[in-house]
Amino acid sequence: MSNTTVTNDIITQLEQITAPWGCDEIFVLTDTHTKEICLPKLHKLDKIKNSHHITIPAGDANKGIKSLKTIWQYLSENGATRKSVLINVGGGMITDIGGFAAATFKRGIEHINISTTLLGAVDAATGGKTGINFLGLKNEIGAFAPAKAVLIDINFFRTLDSKNIRSGFAEMIKHALISSKKDWNETLQFNLEEIDFVELERLLIRNIEIKEAIVEADPRETGVRKSLNLGHTFAHAMESWSYTSGSPVLHGYAVAWGLVCEAYLSFIKLGFPKDELLKLKYFVRENYGTYDCGCNDHDKLLKLMKHDKKNESKEINFTLLSDVGEIAINQTAKKEEIIECFDFLAS
Ligand code: GLY
Repeated sequence: MSNTTVTNDIITQLEQITAPWGCDEIFVLTDTHTKEICLPKLHKLDKIKNSHHITIPAGDANKGIKSLKTIWQYLSENGATRKSVLINVGGGMITDIGGFAAATFKRGIEHINISTTLLGAVDAATGGKTGINFLGLKNEIGAFAPAKAVLIDINFFRTLDSKNIRSGFAEMIKHALISSKKDWNETLQFNLEEIDFVELERLLIRNIEIKEAIVEADPRETGVRKSLNLGHTFAHAMESWSYTSGSPVLHGYAVAWGLVCEAYLSFIKLGFPKDELLKLKYFVRENYGTYDCGCNDHDKLLKLMKHDKKNESKEINFTLLSDVGEIAINQTAKKEEIIECFDFLAS
């Protein structure tokens, strides 16, 4: 059963979720942005206004052990018990680290995710994956720990800039590719230049359905959930590299480029249709630009891909497609094929 609610009235929803439930103390986790922009809207509810507030620095670069310690320490020093709840208000960075802090504090307390970004709403907030980055590797440490509830108010997205809307939309492209031709064609119709929030909400609800069905079938990612990693083997390497090279890219941009690379790999290895590949490439080129990986970076990116937690034995593990909606998990590729993908992306 879905524990995710898309609503225009987050206060009533939050009241309804917390009212019948005997949690003793409420702790609200925000980052420096959501503390300013989103938390005041939740203060209409007295129990949120009077709750404990924890704030960590914004940005994925802060999704590490230092911020995690801040959260654990605050919980510990302010009387959190196993009956306390942590409400994570933010994007994927906050729901990931907050979920992990909750999953590990006193061996686990409940958490609620209030997703304030499209990226978080469409992906990180649902499905129970929590974690932090470690030693320069994305989500290297983590746990499966589903939120008690996920609340999404699309009004929060109205404050997002176009880059952050695009970043979230990349995960919607991924869901469409693994789902069906109908979802794929509808997604490609969406105009990212002029956002229609009503249509975005409709697509978001459909995306949550797609993701929840997959997670329900395979909550711990032993099979079909690997399809949600489409594009991410390349994406995580490009994203991790962007941090170490000093010009960070938003997750969704890396995902969009990773999808093009993995669709190309799907084309050369599994016969993914060329027209769909080109539709994807042009949509991504138009809305996300391109990632030109100079030849000098290939080895660094390959090294990062070898560290990917999805790998089994020494092979780099990919989820590929033989067609839109036709998933092939546990695929591997040779070094030359991987480099060809980067060349296709840049061409
Ligand atoms: N973000 C991919 C998953 O939830 O499995």
